[in-house]
Amino acid sequence: MKAIQLQHPGGLDHLRLVDIPAPGAPKPGEIQVRIHASSLNYHDLGVVAGYVSVVDGRIPMADGAGVVTAVGAGVTEFAVGDAVVSCFFPHWQSGRAVPSTFKTVPGDGVDGFARELVNMPTHAFTLAPRGYTHEEAATLTTAGLTAWRALVVDGRIQAGDTVLVLGTGGVSIFALQMAKSMGARVIATTSSDAKKEHLLALGADQVINYKDEPDWGDVVLASTGGRGVDIVVEVGGPGTLPQSIRACASGGHIALIGVLTGFSGSIPTVEMMRKQQTLQGLIVGSREQQQDMVRALENFNWRPVIDSSYPLEQIAEAFAHQQAAKHFGKICLHY
Ligand SMILES: NC(=O)c1ccc[n+]([C@@H]2O[C@H](COP(=O)([O-])OP(=O)(O)OC[C@H]3O[C@@H](n4cnc5c(N)ncnc54)[C@H](OP(=O)(O)O)[C@@H]3O)[C@@H](O)[C@H]2O)c1
Repeated sequence: MKAIQLQHPGGLDHLRLVDIPAPGAPKPGEIQVRIHASSLNYHDLGVVAGYVSVVDGRIPMADGAGVVTAVGAGVTEFAVGDAVVSCFFPHWQSGRAVPSTFKTVPGDGVDGFARELVNMPTHAFTLAPRGYTHEEAATLTTAGLTAWRALVVDGRIQAGDTVLVLGTGGVSIFALQMAKSMGARVIATTSSDAKKEHLLALGADQVINYKDEPDWGDVVLASTGGRGVDIVVEVGGPGTLPQSIRACASGGHIALIGVLTGFSGSIPTVEMMRKQQTLQGLIVGSREQQQDMVRALENFNWRPVIDSSYPLEQIAEAFAHQQAAKHFGKICLHY
């Protein structure tokens, strides 16, 4: 079967298309899934670009969606023919956050989904939303669940809230779509006037160009009558957090998700304390949260925004497209 392996020391020119043996019959408690699609995340880029150390020959990609082709003894939750989507943390079923080690995360600590067939325990998958294409389903594992958790699980979004989303990557576009469906007002930022039009078409109520308006936190405050937003989906990290704190309301929630501007920096702690805001770090979510999200998505009337889709063989081109940051929404692989 076809697979992609990452060779030491990593880098887009160290991704190799290989032919490896297909797995045998699934063991008791396992399902066999023909993977048809994956989607690219910043984390996957970190793995393939060699920013984190991975073993030679690692099969990348945390997201995987496809069809169950065989079930092992004792499996009752899935049947042959079910459309399924992988879980970012296969061992975090429910409850409080687990220590966020990437040792068991597919495509990082263990082999991921850039391959045609996998045998895995049932708890590594959930059903995909009914009617989704495999590419649409594949966008949910990382980006979709992160946005869901930020807004719903941790942010406890309510109709009438105002939500701030930063940039036009996968997580932010999901957050925009979910927040609008849940009755929120959404303010979005982008560096691109062309992407601004896409954001407005998706339902954003206001769009701010963060390059033209470096003090965009003040712009958000002004446009909310000085109150600020209820939830910030903070994908930028240290370079954007001070503006996010400025933009957030007293008692508001900031979901600390991303590292687009780096890994450490100074935070205006007094402003945050004075405004009694919650700053919550999060890494994706549990299987149970994914099941809740799938149920919700089946009742929303929109689909994930797919910027582009590449055949598996063109995985390096797909990551180069992501690195160029010209995309809007999700970049996928199909196979
Ligand atoms: N904690 C978690 O569980 C989790 C899960 C998923 C992702 N993440 C993190 O979240 C971040 C976004 O991930 P993603 O997969 O959505 O990335 P992505 O699709 O690669 O997003 C890239 C987009 O981010 C925007 N951006 C870049 N710098 C920005 C800045 N200074 N301010 C505002 N927007 C900026 C740009 O939008 P414009 O072109 O519109 O300017 C760019 O197109 C990454 O740091 C990723 O590691 C974390």
